[in-house]
Amino acid sequence: MLEHPSPLITKPNQVRIRTLDVGICGTDREICTFVYGAPPSGSEYLVLGHEALGQVVEVGSGVSRFKPGDFVVPSVRRPCPDLSCVPCRQDRQDFCSTWTFTERGINQYHGYMTEYFVDEEKYLTFVPPELRDVAVLVEPLTVAEKGLAQVWKTQQRLPWGSAKPGEPRGKGLNAVVLGAGPVGILGAMALVVNGFKTYVYSRSKKPNPKAALVESFGVEYISSEEVSVEQLAEKVGSIDLIYEAVGVPGITFDVMRALGINGVYVMTGIPAPKSPIPVAASQIMRNIVLKNQAIVGTVNADAEAFSSAIADLGAFNKRWPTALRQVISSRSRLDNYQDLLVGKATGIKNVIAFD
Ligand code: BGC
Ligand code: ZN
Repeated sequence: MLEHPSPLITKPNQVRIRTLDVGICGTDREICTFVYGAPPSGSEYLVLGHEALGQVVEVGSGVSRFKPGDFVVPSVRRPCPDLSCVPCRQDRQDFCSTWTFTERGINQYHGYMTEYFVDEEKYLTFVPPELRDVAVLVEPLTVAEKGLAQVWKTQQRLPWGSAKPGEPRGKGLNAVVLGAGPVGILGAMALVVNGFKTYVYSRSKKPNPKAALVESFGVEYISSEEVSVEQLAEKVGSIDLIYEAVGVPGITFDVMRALGINGVYVMTGIPAPKSPIPVAASQIMRNIVLKNQAIVGTVNADAEAFSSAIADLGAFNKRWPTALRQVISSRSRLDNYQDLLVGKATGIKNVIAFD
C-alpha cells in the first residue's frame, strides 16, 4: 500500500470519480504472483483494480452524460494508438488487432484501487441508484454479456432454439456452465434470464453453499465428482451451449467432448502457461466437424456489453435479490488487501469498500 497522487481533470471530456467499491478477481491475484500484468512504462508499480463502482465528483466542460452524484462503472481496456487498428478506431478495443492496447489495473495503465480516479466520459456506464450495492459485479458480468453477444452472432449460422418473437432467445436450448466462481454464477444468471435451461457443472459435491446459491435461481447444480462428462451429456440431453468459467485446461477440453450438435463453446478462462496435456483430440475434432460446432474465446467487453450488464443486473435484482447479494461474499476495508490478494482464496466475490 502506498501514496499515489490524486488524479485531476486535465481534458474537457474527463470525469473525476470517488471510488466506492472495487472487486477482487483471479486476474488481480495472478498479477500479485507476477505471472500476468505490467505497470505503465516508467512506473515502478501498477495500481490494481479493474472491477470498480464509483460516484462522480466533478465533470469536465465537455461532459454531457454525467453529473456529480451519479454512480458509474468504468470499463477496463483502452485503445491502442495505431491508426491502422480498425477495431480500436471504432471503439472496439476489446478486439484490438495490434495487441498494444492497455488495460486499467492490469496492463500498463493504473487501475481503480485508489480513493479517486479520472477517466473519459465514453469509458463510463451509468448505474441506477437501486443497483448501488451490487454494481461492482457489472464488470465480471460483462464477460458473460460479451460471450452471449458472440453466441448470438455465431449461431446466426443456423435456425437455433425455438424462441418466438418476444420470447427470450435461449428458449428451448440447454446451457452448461463450467465452474461456480463469480464469472460462472453471473453467467448462469444471464443464461437463465435469456431463457436457457441452465446447469452448473463444478467440482464440489452437494450440499455446498455455491450449489445452494445457483439452485435458488433455477439452475441445476451437478458435481463433477459425482457425475462424469458422459453422464452429464446423457442427463442434459443436447448441450447447445457450454460456458467455460473455470480456467482449467484439462476440464475445459474434457467437457468439450460433450458439446452437442450445432453447439457453441465459449471460453473465458486465462490459465497461466503450463506444459501440454493429453486431450481426446480425434473425438473432439470429429465432433467439431461432423456436429457443426463452434468454439469462441471472449475477452474484455465493449460499451454495449456494459449496458447489457446493467440491464441484466437490474433483472437479476428484481427476480433474485437475495441470491444476487450472496454473490458478494465479503466487503472489507483496504487494510485487508493482503488477505484478499495473496492470502487463501475464499468465498465468491470479495470486495474492497472505499467509502
Ligand atoms: C478482465 C478483462 C481483461 C482480462 C485480461 C479480466 O480479468 O475482466 O477486462 O481483458 O482480464 O487481461
Ligand atoms: Zn476481473
